Amino acid sequence: MNFREHITFSFGENWLKYIKTFDEKNFKEARLSLQELLELKSLKGKSFIDIGCGSGIFSLAAIDMNAQKVISLDSDSKSVEAGNIIKRRNNAKQWSILEGSILNKDFLNNLEIADIIYAWGVLHHTGDMWKAIDNSAKLVKKEGLFALAIYNRCWTSGFWLKFKKLYNNRGRIIKKIMVFSIFLPRVFARLMKLKHPFQEKRGMSIYYDAVDWAGGFPYEYAKFDEIVSFLKKRNFILINGVRTKSIGCNQFVFKKT
Ligand SMILES: C[S@@+](CC[C@H](N)C(=O)[O-])C[C@H]1O[C@@H](n2cnc3c(N)ncnc32)[C@H](O)[C@@H]1O
Repeated sequence: MNFREHITFSFGENWLKYIKTFDEKNFKEARLSLQELLELKSLKGKSFIDIGCGSGIFSLAAIDMNAQKVISLDSDSKSVEAGNIIKRRNNAKQWSILEGSILNKDFLNNLEIADIIYAWGVLHHTGDMWKAIDNSAKLVKKEGLFALAIYNRCWTSGFWLKFKKLYNNRGRIIKKIMVFSIFLPRVFARLMKLKHPFQEKRGMSIYYDAVDWAGGFPYEYAKFDEIVSFLKKRNFILINGVRTKSIGCNQFVFKKT
């Protein structure tokens, strides 16, 4: 089957809908996930760049953890709009939100390097994952941290690549059906485990996550060790890692030596 490679999905539109449901409970979960991944309770005195900030809630978590300066960037203007709504609600002065791509050298030249670079679930959606990882790594200060999450390569990766291409080439009704084909089994699985049916890890929502998963394209993936060896060659050592066996994200925190 031949799929035209055009993209009709906007991450930002999905984030604008998600933030309408965002509340204190989501925020606490988001902040806890950031603290656990970085293994830090406070970011006092640290600068933080949130690459592909999406809704902006992890930037807000960094502010809440007393980061000195937070820069969020996203290539989708609607994500920037979502981040600005969250920013206005919270009146955070040390927070700037920029529209730009991690693949754009001119844009990156205007950024200062930072203590912590956070790129959760982003770099595999850029269309040039390894370049995006390389560019992000260059933004990390010496002794600084680079936290990222990248889709795992597993036996179903090829299927999901086709699924996402198909989604991006179909009309509204087929798209809804495709989202529900992901959303409903997840709700059912959670009910079976006696978990809240609609709340996802990291303060996310099961429904908007299903939309993100169905539509999120470009889509690349890598094995845990491929990421580790790529960054090792660039003088990073792994200090925290969360492996998945599923199609979801492997998570990493590297320190620049
Ligand atoms: C799945 S979302 C993740 C959002 C957020 N990091 C989180 O953990 O909730 C991916 C985000 O990356 C952004 N993105 C995709 N390509 C990008 C690029 N080249 N540069 C910057 N952001 C990009 C998308 O617009 C989207 O908001």
